[in-house]
Parts: sequence; C-alpha cells; structure tokens
Amino acid sequence: MFTITPTQPNITLPKLPYDLFAAIQSLKQELNAVILAHYYQDPDIQDIADYIGDSLELSRKAANTKADVIVFAGVHFMAETAKILNPHKLVLLPDLNAGCSLADSCPPDAFGAFKAAHPDHLVISYINCTAAIKAMSDIICTSSNSVKIINQIPKDRPIIFGPDRNLGRYVSQQTGRDMVLWQGACIVHENFSEKKIVQLQIAHPEAEIIAHPECEAPVLRHANYIGSTTALLKYSQSSLSQSFIVATEPGIIHQMQKQCPEKQFIPAPPTNNCACNECPHMRLNTLEKLYLAMKNRTPEITLPADIQAAALLPIQRMLEMSV
Ligand code: 13P
Ligand code: SF4
Repeated sequence: MFTITPTQPNITLPKLPYDLFAAIQSLKQELNAVILAHYYQDPDIQDIADYIGDSLELSRKAANTKADVIVFAGVHFMAETAKILNPHKLVLLPDLNAGCSLADSCPPDAFGAFKAAHPDHLVISYINCTAAIKAMSDIICTSSNSVKIINQIPKDRPIIFGPDRNLGRYVSQQTGRDMVLWQGACIVHENFSEKKIVQLQIAHPEAEIIAHPECEAPVLRHANYIGSTTALLKYSQSSLSQSFIVATEPGIIHQMQKQCPEKQFIPAPPTNNCACNECPHMRLNTLEKLYLAMKNRTPEITLPADIQAAALLPIQRMLEMSV
C-alpha cells in the first residue's frame, strides 16, 4: 500500500483558453505586438509568428518594427538584441531561461582578459553572445553576414573572433583571414556525428548534405552546402535535389517541408542515442508560455543601461555593413 504525493502541491496551473491561436491573435491586436520567431522554435510557434527568420533577419525586423511590444520566440541573446535596438519598447521572451550554450561559453570577465591580451585587435563577435560581450565588441555578425563583414575589414587589421570557434574557423577559411578565435561552441551543432552522417549518406546516396557553419570541421567537410538557417532553407528550395540530410537544429525542417512538401528532409544524427538534435534552450518556449507572456506582459527583457547603450553601436555597424 502506498500513497502518491504531488511533487509540487502548491502550484496551480494557469487557466488556458481553448483556442490558443485565437487568444494569441487577439492579444496581438490588444498590445499592438509583433511576434518574431526563430526557425528552431516549435512548429506551432512558427505558424503563429508574424515573421520567422535567421538571426540577421530577426534583428532587422526588430530594428524596423512599428509595434509597441516585441514578443521574441527565440533565445535570450536574440531578445536582448531586440531590446538593445528598442530600448523603450516592451520585449517579452516566453521563457526567460531560454539561454544558449554558445553565449554561456563566453563569460564577460574571461573575454575581457582575452581582449586585453590583444589590444590592437578588432573584436568581431557572433550575435550568439550576451549583451555584455556585445558591449565589448567593435562589430557584431551573424552566420549569414560574417564573411561579408570580415571582407570589409582592412587586411592589415588583426581580428579577434568570438565566441564560436567553428564559425570562426569556417569564416577564416572563406576569407583567408588569420583570426584569433575564442574557443566557444554550440552543444547542438557540435553533437552531430560525422560517422553516422556518412552512414546515412551511404543509405541515401541521392541526398545532399546541408549544414550550418556552427558544425565541426569534419561534418562541414561532407557538406554540399553550408549556410545560415535562412540560406539552408533557400538552398533546399532552389536545389534540384529531392532529398537532404540537414545538419542543423531540426526545427528548420518544418519550414523546409512546408515550402517543398514533395522533398525529403532527414535530420542529421547526433553522437548520442537520442533521435534528434533539438536545442534544449530554444525548446523551452511553448505556445502556452507565449500566450501567458502576452497576457501577463512578463517575462520582460531588461538590461543594465550602460551595457544596453554600449551594445547598440556594434549591432548598428553590423546592420550597416550587411545591406
Ligand atoms: P542563424 O539562424 O542566424 O543561422 O543562427 C542559428 C543559431 O544557432 C541560432 O541560435
Ligand atoms: Fe545556442 Fe546552439 Fe541553441 Fe543556437 S542552437 S540557441 S547556438 S545552443
């Protein structure tokens, strides 16, 4: 004989409307809100969003929106970027714990010391970093504009690139620039198994491998095409191939399949025994949390004023250098 005790007896679950999609649409009107979503979000969130995009496109949308409230369905550094660009607007993130392993791999104190050890270097930081790191940077970049931005830097100017060592190495190869790399990485993209990808390609010889530059070099070596999430989506539409092995977070497959229902998209396998490579941070956001964030106008992104102000210029430089 045993009794079952609830693990959290004092928690009352919030009441949710029957039709969440309709309730979110009506809150959007009420708040004059825009919903921006990254491709790694749950399909439901992608389907209700006003705009879906890669980090650069979402930053551009955030910079140009006329909405009073920005609901950012993505991770913390993305919502922070929207806040830096819109200091007077309310920026909501459905789950404040939606962080990023790559951003976490670059603590401001250690990065400050790294920067001080290379005083003559220009600091170019991948957007997947905290606002504090952005504030220490000269220019921000994303996976879709990093090559373009680095090609605009005078050849005799040494560069620090952080925090992603894989994107840094890839950009270095593409531009011929020898950069000092911060050794950070994304847990999702570093988890793809080269061996299993090769086995998958043997089983699907007609499939093209498409990969995000955050993947490790041995995986990228097998790729027929490398690009940001939006670039991968566009390539999957324009390529004559009917089948693709997709080496990035599998949320993007929702859009790929929507655009090309007749094509086959196979998620690249990770090294562990899990069936997929979902980002545990991105997937903290749910449609329910998005509804509650809009209804309660919280959780809100707030930043220390000095960091918010200092992080703006490097983001603006990025937007100007990538037109
Ligand atoms: P992009 O969508 O800009 O390619 O970035 C991918 C990513 O890792 C976002 O966290
Ligand atoms: Fe960060 Fe990687 Fe998740 Fe993107 S996929 S949010 S880089 S942990």
